[in-house]
Amino acid sequence: MLSKQDNHLLTRTGPGTPMGELFRLYWIPALKSDELKSDGKPQRVRLLGEDLIAFRDTEGKIGLIEEACPHRGTSLYYGINDGCGIRCMYHGWKFDTNGDCTEIPSEEGDPKFRKTIKIKNYPVKEVKGIIWTYMGPEEKQPEFPEFYWMGLPVENMMSERVWQECNYAQVMENDLDYVHAAFLHKALGKQEVGEGILSTDLGIDPNHPLVRNPPVKQDVEDTNYGKRCIAVGIGNETDNAFMEIHYIFPFYTFPPRFEGEDGMWHAFIPRDDYSTWSWDVQFSHNRPIDVQANHDRRGLKLDEHFKKQISIENDYAQDRELQKTGNFTGIRGIANQDHAATETMGPIVDRSKEHLGTSDLPIIHMRRLLLQQVKAFQDGKENFTLVNDSLKNLYSAGLYDSNQKSWQEAFPLQSQFKTKEFEVKSK
Ligand code: FES
Ligand SMILES: [Fe+2]
Repeated sequence: MLSKQDNHLLTRTGPGTPMGELFRLYWIPALKSDELKSDGKPQRVRLLGEDLIAFRDTEGKIGLIEEACPHRGTSLYYGINDGCGIRCMYHGWKFDTNGDCTEIPSEEGDPKFRKTIKIKNYPVKEVKGIIWTYMGPEEKQPEFPEFYWMGLPVENMMSERVWQECNYAQVMENDLDYVHAAFLHKALGKQEVGEGILSTDLGIDPNHPLVRNPPVKQDVEDTNYGKRCIAVGIGNETDNAFMEIHYIFPFYTFPPRFEGEDGMWHAFIPRDDYSTWSWDVQFSHNRPIDVQANHDRRGLKLDEHFKKQISIENDYAQDRELQKTGNFTGIRGIANQDHAATETMGPIVDRSKEHLGTSDLPIIHMRRLLLQQVKAFQDGKENFTLVNDSLKNLYSAGLYDSNQKSWQEAFPLQSQFKTKEFEVKSK
């Protein structure tokens, strides 16, 4: 349970809010590279409550700028993207990718005026098919985070972004929730699974350790990237299944995985306080990924604005017959099941009314870290720093080992991920 004040602090991320200003100090995945073509249609993208557009100019450079034209506010989304800039359809003012105004046709005789006009723009970086941005103050821009999958060949990965209709925090909480997999994602019969693919469109195989039984033990430990959330489940007669979820501050995760399965990385970026850009990167360590199989498994059907066609508006196409015979929810697709669970809470769930149990331990730790960090930030303290030496080697593993072993023996945290405090304490 959270107080109403803490729930407010956790969930409000627009400009000027404490959490919003803290989030602006981290790199954000904004768009997929293939959304933008040179001199092609611009793309709208709302991030942290700000309405922006992105465009790729004649030379391939990307601009991420405020949507409203600084002249009188017309949307630049409708503008003309050519000749190394975007021109407003209303009176023809033109802007380049740096946000500089390069032409005002009606004020040709007054170049000084033109030079005073600037549109808000944010720096971008294009990495492995994703366009990232940094929306904080220039002097605080951190090193670009080098996640493990960025070191893999591009054919080993795929990414998807989707507009999810609720606050980022409840989407991220779902990702740290081990127990829901045993219910929400449970397929009632054995599933046909492809190489490295965890599950099909009906849900997760009932024999998978995530589904077979809820974890018998959970624990959370502090790390130099955020939190490592450990779960121990029953594997077979002699072995337990040891699993981990990594919560990387402030809004990235690696959900649980076992050897041989494709890896998964998520980011939950507030679109505004009532909706989220949910990013999903699937990656294989050692072979090209099956893009179609992964899309099918997730089951999302998106329109050109990345809005879902299977949504709360049509009850997620729930099939009551399928619920009796096929899977726990009667909803097809792992992602649709997750969206149904989190969006039906309402856009911002009232955490003063919830009743958390021991199964919610990772969520409690994640909230605690976010609230502790945002309060420290309000007090003018330095924010949490991500270290690439650590990030480069981090992903979720998961293994079977003797049920006589504790998780600390079977599945210890590698020393490179330990916090300085941890090192001091264990000396
Ligand atoms: S409003 Fe854009 S040029 Fe006038
Ligand atoms: Fe899920």
